[in-house]
Parts: sequence; C-alpha cells; structure tokens
Amino acid sequence: MLLFPSNRPLLVGLLTALSQVLAGQVPVHNGVIGGVPEASTRVLSTPGILAATGDGTAVQTTPGKLRVVENSGVCETTPGVYQASGYGDLTANQSMWFWFFAARENPDTAPLTIWLNGGPGSSSMIGLFQENGPCRITNDSTGVTLNPFSWNNVSNMLYLDQPVGAGFSYGNVSVSTSSEAAADVWKFLQMFFADSRFSKYQKNDFALWTESYGGHYGPTFAAHILDQNAGIANKTVNGTTINLKFLGIGNGLTDPLAQYPGYLTYSASNPYHPLVSNDVLQEAISAWNSTGGCQDQIESCYSTNDNKICSQAQSICNSGILSRALGSYDPYYVLSTTPDPYPPDLAPYLASTSLMSKIGAESQWVMSSDDVYFNFADSGDWMRNSRPLLESVINAGVRTIIYDGDVDYILNYVGVETMVDALQTKFTTEYARQQFANYTVASQVAGMYKNAGAFSYVRIYGAGHEVPAYTHGTLGVGQAAFQMFSQIMSNNSLSPTELTANGTATGTSTPSSTSKPNSSSVPQSSLWILLSAIVGAIVLLPFDPIILL
Ligand SMILES: *[C@@H]1O[C@H](CO)[C@@H](O)[C@H](O)[C@H]1NC(C)=O
Ligand SMILES: *[C@@H]1O[C@H](CO)[C@@H](O)[C@H](O)[C@H]1NC(C)=O
Ligand SMILES: *[C@@H]1O[C@H](CO)[C@@H](O)[C@H](O)[C@H]1NC(C)=O
Ligand SMILES: *[C@@H]1O[C@H](CO)[C@@H](O)[C@H](O)[C@H]1NC(C)=O
Ligand SMILES: *[C@@H]1O[C@H](CO)[C@@H](O)[C@H](O)[C@H]1NC(C)=O
Ligand SMILES: *[C@@H]1O[C@H](CO)[C@@H](O)[C@H](O)[C@H]1NC(C)=O
Ligand SMILES: *[C@@H]1O[C@H](CO)[C@@H](O)[C@H](O)[C@H]1NC(C)=O
Ligand SMILES: *[C@@H]1O[C@H](CO)[C@@H](O)[C@H](O)[C@H]1NC(C)=O
Ligand SMILES: *[C@@H]1O[C@H](CO)[C@@H](O)[C@H](O)[C@H]1NC(C)=O
Ligand SMILES: *[C@@H]1O[C@H](CO)[C@@H](O)[C@H](O)[C@H]1NC(C)=O
Ligand SMILES: *[C@@H]1O[C@H](CO)[C@@H](O)[C@H](O)[C@H]1NC(C)=O
Repeated sequence: MLLFPSNRPLLVGLLTALSQVLAGQVPVHNGVIGGVPEASTRVLSTPGILAATGDGTAVQTTPGKLRVVENSGVCETTPGVYQASGYGDLTANQSMWFWFFAARENPDTAPLTIWLNGGPGSSSMIGLFQENGPCRITNDSTGVTLNPFSWNNVSNMLYLDQPVGAGFSYGNVSVSTSSEAAADVWKFLQMFFADSRFSKYQKNDFALWTESYGGHYGPTFAAHILDQNAGIANKTVNGTTINLKFLGIGNGLTDPLAQYPGYLTYSASNPYHPLVSNDVLQEAISAWNSTGGCQDQIESCYSTNDNKICSQAQSICNSGILSRALGSYDPYYVLSTTPDPYPPDLAPYLASTSLMSKIGAESQWVMSSDDVYFNFADSGDWMRNSRPLLESVINAGVRTIIYDGDVDYILNYVGVETMVDALQTKFTTEYARQQFANYTVASQVAGMYKNAGAFSYVRIYGAGHEVPAYTHGTLGVGQAAFQMFSQIMSNNSLSPTELTANGTATGTSTPSSTSKPNSSSVPQSSLWILLSAIVGAIVLLPFDPIILL
C-alpha cells in the first residue's frame, strides 16, 4: 500500500508511521497535512487490477450495469440479512466499488442511505469497518466483530468507493472536483436503481451521510441530485428520481474561510489541552492574518474562483496553519499523540486475496488515493465554499444534520460551529435563538445540540474525527452516533433519551427548552508538548499531504 512517495531520504520510518494514520483521510505531503506537492515530485499509484483472481486477464466490464456478488457472508452475519457487493461500471475503464447491506429489520420500507467517506480519494470502507457498518475491524486488524450499533439496524446501507481510484474502485482517474464527483455518483445510483435486485428501494426515502471532505461532497452531491430530479420532472433529463430526504455531515469541510480560524482557537483552547506552545501559536496566527497569509489566500480563492489561486491557498493554509497549530497530536484525535493506532488499520484485512475473492473485489484496496487527491489539489476544490449549496439543500426541505466529534482537530467543532452559525436558511433565525441543550443518550450526557425546523447540529463529546468509532462514559462504541442517526432517519429532530428500568433507552418529553452555556468551559493548563523538533523536521522535508477521511 504505497500511498506516499517513497523517495524521502530522512525520517522515513517516522513519516511512514505518520502517513499511515493520516492516510486515513487527508494525505500528508512535505510534512504538510493536505499539502500540495510540486507536480514533478509526485508519484502516482495506479493499483493493480485483478489481484483477486491473479491471472492477469482483463476483467469483462459491463458499462452501465452492475456486477454483483450476493450474500458473501462477510461482515454482516445476522441471519436473514441480505447483502451484495461488486462494481458499477461507469465506462469500460471505470469501475466503482459498492457494498450494500439490507436493513436488519423491515428492509422493504426502511430508508436507503448512501455513506461516503471523504479524502478526497478516501475509501468508504473506512466508514463501513471503522465507524457505522454491520461489523467493526478488531484492534489487531485481523478480523471483524458484529456491530450492535450498526446503521443498518434502521436503514438499508450502501457504501460506495468514489471517485474512481478510491478504495476498491479502479480505472481511469478523471474526476478532480466535487461537482464532477457528483455526476459520477448520480450515474452510479442510476445503475443501482435500474438493477432488478435494488429497484425496489427506489420508492424508499433516500439519505446521504458523509464526513470530512464530505463537507464539500454532501452539499454538492445533494444539490446535484435535486437538480437532476428537477430535470427528470421537466423531461430534460432521463433517469430515475432519487427520493433525497436526509443529509448528514460529520466533521466536514464546507466553508474554509469560516472554518480555518478554528484551527487557531481550537489549538489554544479546547476541552482537553492546548496543542502547541504560545510561540508556535503566534506564528500560526500570523500565518492566518498577515498580508498574503491564509485569510487573504482564501478570500482571493472565493473572489476569483481560479484553480491556481485556490490550489495555492490550500498549500499555504495547510502548511502555515493546519499543520503548524497541531503540534505533536493526532489530527483526528488530539487525546493521542500522532499516530493514534485507533481506529485500527483496515489494510491487512482488506488485502486478503481470499476475502477479496469472496466479496468480488478486483483491485488492490487503497485507503486514500493520491491520484484522486492530486487531481483535487490542482483544481483547488478544497478551498471552494460549499456553504451556498448546503443552504440551498436545507431550504429545499432536505432534513439536515451537521455533527462534530469534539476530540477532532482537523475539522474541529470550533470551525464547524462557525460555519453553522454563518448559514443563511429559513431556519437561521430560530437556530440563533436556541441555546444548546444536553444531548443525553440513555441518561448520559453525550454532547450538546440544537434543533431548528428540519435542521440540527450536535457536538459529540469524546469523539474523534470518525464519530461513530468512539464511546463516551459507559455508552457502547457508536451508541451516541447511532441514536443521532436513528432519530434523524425517522424524520425527527434530535432528542435526549433516558435509560428505563428494563434497560432500554426511551425519549424524554422535554426537548430543547433546557439549555447549557453556549460555549464549553475550557481548561487553560500549559501542557506544551514540545516535540516540535521532530515536527519541524517533518515540515522541512521535501514531501508529503493532509487527508480528510
Ligand atoms: C478503455 O477501454 C477500451 C475498451 O475496453 C479500451 O479499448 C481502451 O484501451 C481503454 N483505455 C484505457 C485508457 O484504458
Ligand atoms: C481497542 O483499542 C481502543 C483504543 O486503544 C480501546 O479503547 C479498546 O478498548 C480496544 N478494544 C478492545 C476490544 O480491546
Ligand atoms: C441491532 O440489531 C442487532 C441484530 O438484530 C441487535 O442484536 C441489536 O440489539 C440492535 N441494536 C440496537 C441498538 O437496537
Ligand atoms: C481517461 O481520463 C482522461 C482524463 O484524465 C480523459 O482525457 C480520457 O478520455 C479518459 N479515457 C477513457 C478511456 O476514459
Ligand atoms: C428543467 O430543469 C432543470 C433543472 O432544474 C433546469 O435547469 C432547466 O432550466 C429546466 N428546463 C426547462 C425547459 O424547464
Ligand atoms: C431520453 O431517452 C429517450 C429514449 O432513449 C431519448 O429519445 C431522449 O432523447 C432522451 N432525452 C434526454 C433528455 O436525454
Ligand atoms: C490576527 O488575529 C489575531 C487573533 O485573532 C488578532 O488578535 C490580531 O489582532 C490579528 N492581527 C491583525 C493584524 O489583524
Ligand atoms: C418529515 O417531517 C416533516 C414535518 O416535520 C414533513 O413535512 C415531511 O414530509 C416528513 N418527511 C418524510 C420523509 O417523512
Ligand atoms: C421498556 O420500557 C419502555 C418504557 O418504560 C417500553 O416502552 C419498552 O417497550 C420496554 N421494552 C421492553 C423490551 O420491555
Ligand atoms: C448538562 O449536563 C451537565 C453534566 O454534563 C450538567 O452539569 C448540566 O446541569 C446539564 N445541563 C442541563 C441544562 O441539564
Ligand atoms: C449564548 O447565546 C445567547 C443568545 O444567542 C447570548 O445572548 C449569550 O451571550 C451567549 N452566551 C455565551 C456564554 O456565549
């Protein structure tokens, strides 16, 4: 699994360790999380096809149709629950990997959710095996265990590796923006609903849940689906209407101008510990608001909409601010120094040829595709503002939730809440009037939330970037995220639940009149961990990027 260029002369071992973790979501280039390396120094990583059959012959693709393996018996072992995995061939040269799990109960009427990880270029197998799927990877990365808080308890789940190049998807990597990615995902969904095995789900409510770079994907894909629906209605587009009703975005990058100052604030003051020394923090602040600094860069990107300028903004901001203000901590979970070995690596499990042949996978799994990442880095898509599209989707009546785990730095709650506060929608006035209330799960406070109309926001305590992978108090791993998902997917606002005498959780009658102070109190201890010698060395190295899983 060569995600990163291997021509680094120094500190290779350290960087490899760092890369493996960051590869989860955002590549590290030149020691910069989400860095943009010179084109001449890049190494592309087109994975080999047919690792599963091993005979080297070309796969017979079926453009416009799915190729499916049913009931492989992998991951979902609950009796009677249907599953299918395989490829949707967009063209003869572009095959998109998917894995479908029917709902554990009432699949015919349960909604259908598509789950997408971010990157850009990260595999949605991350969500499946580390976050919300029917099974979870074990800590030693050798196997899986059944997940009692799987999101397929209440929804049919479709995990898709996109764009082509990510995960088990393979073929000509041609997508370099969120809107191009949206077009391919829509095409895939058309194939999915045209397939006799899945056409019955077309009438069900449809949801899009995503995370991280999904702060761009979610609004862009949802808006594209609505637009195509309108085209189908007025006969300018041929296709199947997609009943998009719900949108969920976890720890997402949506509006960089609103969100980037959050790195400075969160680094200095979060519920856990400061991340860097005051000197380093001052450098990062200056990198934000000095002339030509990050703020100016993002503003030029917004006003010019120019690929080069936006790409340069990504490079400057991610080295000057994002990477710098992190210190030695894990960008996805600041309670650990980097690299945090949790959630466990999926690569050893997904590289098994016997597993691949059972599920019908034909290409070596890539957690995060550099080919895809570089295309996006060059288009400057990272620094574009997806907030207007999010506003249009909310105003179109799609019930929307934004959520954020408070131990995550890379898309921290400070930035995300600033973005949420900046939203201009029909629910904005009501949202601003609310105060945060405790989000209790089975009587334990698991976060704080607000509802306004069909919009909700929740900050989840104790959770890193991949919210459903974490636990808080004595709750189960993923229990709080599961409650949130279930409530939204049953078309309700968020509400606290209490533990009943018989051990089940039940809704309480008083939602959001109670409140707690709008901002959390933050300890100001000086836990300056100065591994900055090492970090400094990494930053000076000639190579490496940041990934938003
Ligand atoms: C794409 O597929 C077609 C048909 O299979 C083949 O002729 C062509 O060489 C392929 N192109 C690339 C770039 O792989
Ligand atoms: C797996 O590792 C995590 C993080 O170190 C730990 O909290 C959890 O208890 C471990 N799970 C098991 C089953 O040992
Ligand atoms: C989810 O479904 C499984 C299998 O039916 C069940 O054991 C588990 O208790 C369910 N989880 C929840 C939270 O209801
Ligand atoms: C492959 O992608 C390139 C752009 O990256 C495009 O120009 C070319 O037409 C594609 N080829 C095929 C066969 O899809
Ligand atoms: C049809 O709907 C599309 C999508 O909303 C819109 O862009 C287009 O202008 C409409 N065309 C006509 C003829 O109404
Ligand atoms: C829709 O499909 C029909 C039949 O294939 C075709 O005649 C028509 O031109 C298509 N319309 C659009 C808008 O693509
Ligand atoms: C830069 O930002 C910091 C922190 O927000 C602020 O204290 C300082 O006044 C700003 N400096 C300039 C020149 O705007
Ligand atoms: C969700 O509830 C709202 C009212 O709160 C209703 O207008 C809407 O039709 C419902 N949507 C679905 C998918 O049931
Ligand atoms: C547990 O109690 C709640 C209310 O107190 C009730 O709604 C629920 O059906 C009970 N569950 C079981 C399994 O008995
Ligand atoms: C919220 O929970 C905290 C404990 O985490 C508690 O101290 C506080 O009183 C609760 N606030 C409300 C409004 O219930
Ligand atoms: C909380 O929000 C209210 C109204 O939005 C505001 O008046 C108050 O100052 C805020 N409190 C804090 C502690 O930020």
